[in-house]
Amino acid sequence: MALVELRDVVKRYELGGETLTVLKGVDFTIEAGEFVAVMGPSGSGKSTMLNMIGLLDEPSEGTVLLRGEDVTTLSDRERTKARQGAIGFIFQDFYLIPSLTATENVELPTLFGGAGNKKGREKAIELLTDFGLGDRLDHLPKELSGGQQQRVAIARSLVNEPQVLLADEPTGNLDQKTGKEILDRLREICDSGVGIIAVTHDPNVAAYADRRVNIVDGVIDGDDALAREDHDA
Ligand SMILES: Nc1ncnc2c1ncn2[C@@H]1O[C@H](COP(=O)(O)OP(=O)(O)OP(=O)(O)O)[C@@H](O)[C@H]1O
Ligand SMILES: [Mg+2]
Repeated sequence: MALVELRDVVKRYELGGETLTVLKGVDFTIEAGEFVAVMGPSGSGKSTMLNMIGLLDEPSEGTVLLRGEDVTTLSDRERTKARQGAIGFIFQDFYLIPSLTATENVELPTLFGGAGNKKGREKAIELLTDFGLGDRLDHLPKELSGGQQQRVAIARSLVNEPQVLLADEPTGNLDQKTGKEILDRLREICDSGVGIIAVTHDPNVAAYADRRVNIVDGVIDGDDALAREDHDA
């Protein structure tokens, strides 16, 4: 069964009496253990599609299925619960909470729904250490570099062990070496059975993917399996 499936998803915005159709009937599936790169020009609908997959926004028409369950008919509360249990996000702008330390930011998603416990903090510290931030645990976001903040955001996306990981330009602020380390790590996570969808303009990211989906003007124009390059070379 697909982890997530979009069936003929249409997204429209009403603006000043005009209707803007941003997604024009998108069909898409991702399976466990797949790494999909989503590419396409600015304004083509990539982030909008990611928001649909991540249950952050509702389609105007069409169906979104999470592990076979139609989530378009759920209440807001049920949808939020489904999202928290299954989906991790790495946002382009990080959205770290300025008043919380690195550890507290990463721990935060484990506190929702009453699951907060020692384990959440341990997991947060383990992830941050893994990402080379073991000596930055108590720093606030403003005390971290852009690339370090990005790694905190990635750690936070993983703390609840999601089945689907969504990333908008996950390596946008990283130097080549750190970027490669993060991609290697994402690849490992993916190989452990997580489905990853990364929106990117970076050919290095696309080189890590199993599939590349191209979006042009709200429609999928190309969905191709890729031969993966040898990254250890
Ligand atoms: N809330 C909104 N109201 C009206 N129009 C919107 C809204 N959100 C997005 N759009 C429009 O939808 C289109 C697609 O936006 P989207 O953010 O999905 O593009 P994108 O492919 O992610 O682009 P980029 O590569 O620049 O991030 C854009 O033309 C944008 O102006
Ligand atoms: Mg975008």
